[in-house]
Amino acid sequence: MASNALVMPDLISQIKPDNIPQHIAIIMDGNGRWAKKRGMPRVVGHHSGVRSVREVTEAAAQAGVRYLTLYAFSTENWNRPPAEVTALMSLLVETIKGEIRDLNRNGVRLMAIGELESLPEATYNTLMEGLESTRDNTRITLVLALNYSSRWELARAARTLAQQAQSGHLNPSDIDEKVFESALATHGIPDPDLLIRTSGEARLSNFLLFQSAYAELYFTHVFWPDFGKNELYEAIINYQQRERRFGKTSEQIKT
Ligand code: IPE
Ligand code: IPE
Ligand code: MG
Repeated sequence: MASNALVMPDLISQIKPDNIPQHIAIIMDGNGRWAKKRGMPRVVGHHSGVRSVREVTEAAAQAGVRYLTLYAFSTENWNRPPAEVTALMSLLVETIKGEIRDLNRNGVRLMAIGELESLPEATYNTLMEGLESTRDNTRITLVLALNYSSRWELARAARTLAQQAQSGHLNPSDIDEKVFESALATHGIPDPDLLIRTSGEARLSNFLLFQSAYAELYFTHVFWPDFGKNELYEAIINYQQRERRFGKTSEQIKT
């Protein structure tokens, strides 16, 4: 902690304030391996990961990031051993309950994307309390992807638009990228500029596939429980060294 505090000001001072990613999305991965490496049960890794969530949220806010989306539980994660799923759901309840006061103190607005209605009742209810209690905060928006998968989201969007068309409220020929976006769970949230995945895996695992069309991807070998302020700032510094061309040529970008 002490050495972190010494290093951190240097790293944040290397970040250019005029090119902060507005939205950072993170696939928090490696909790299980982090614990295994220490001879501990996987859930210990999940518990330790909460510290990273806290630290990274505050660090992102300090850097001026407006939206931070964290992949907390995927639709596919239901296939894990039932005891791990139960532990993750209780951890969510515990964490949200325990953090609400600090979220409010730090100006963090909580949002959630995913099939929330299918979460266990206690998780759902606590989540709703968290969303309600932090809704007026404006410093940073923390979006939790919970029981989320892109394919679920895309299929739901198609269903919503089809229903609107069928009931005569939408002309199918009016469906363009913007209209489609309006039917996504992330409606109103800008696309991620930077997408980070920890733990050395280089895949998207069904996360924000539509929204990440032009995100800069950053993969690090660091396991999520070891990912903190400095690791986030390293990712932002790396992002700032890239040229985002959006289909144009480098020369066009520079002029
Ligand atoms: C990420 O860590 C947390 C969740 C998916 C909930 P993992 O639990 O996937 O950790 P590894 O990949 O097994 O190490
Ligand atoms: C992705 O991590 C989901 C979350 C971070 C919540 P996983 O560890 O479950 O991803 P895969 O299944 O190994 O790709
Ligand atoms: Mg994993």
